[in-house]
Amino acid sequence: MFPGRKIFLIGFMGSGKSTVGRKLAARLGWSFIDLDDRIEEKAGMKIPEIFKEKGEAWFREMESTILHDLVNYTDFVVSTGGGAPCYDDNMDFMLRSGLTVYLKLTPAQLKERLIKSKTVRPLLKNINASELINFISQKLQEREKWYSRASITIDGFEIDISHLISLVRQWKEQ
Ligand code: S3P
Repeated sequence: MFPGRKIFLIGFMGSGKSTVGRKLAARLGWSFIDLDDRIEEKAGMKIPEIFKEKGEAWFREMESTILHDLVNYTDFVVSTGGGAPCYDDNMDFMLRSGLTVYLKLTPAQLKERLIKSKTVRPLLKNINASELINFISQKLQEREKWYSRASITIDGFEIDISHLISLVRQWKEQ
């Protein structure tokens, strides 16, 4: 039995968590939260600036704190940053607090998305186009051990929102 009406979307950078999260929340009539946006609001800085001025460890602490604060809320879908499940006890927290959904894509699919993306991502700052596929493959392999613990894994390349909704409804009825 899941204690809260909370859905956590997890997955690598560029996997479409925010786009899917917005659609899913709208269909459920729940709120949508973008964890990265919350961090930026609280810090009063954009993520690249946070990494530069405060460092990654500071960012991870903030990310974990804001994620854990969600324990007090229900009826939301949250898109988490690609690293969120892999630090602190964040994955355990999400697993015990609600439904975790992993949007899974291959390194090649992620590369195509990330090359086109306009979002500035500090972890990709010093990676050139020819190194990108290796970087993604390696990082994804490291992170897969957290991502793969999600309650539901779906193909993030072609997401069928209606199918996702039916999985969520099965969970809500439990
Ligand atoms: C990160 C992913 C980013 C953001 C930060 C770190 C990561 O979010 O949280 O740049 O460690 O993978 P997106 O997954 O939304 O790009």
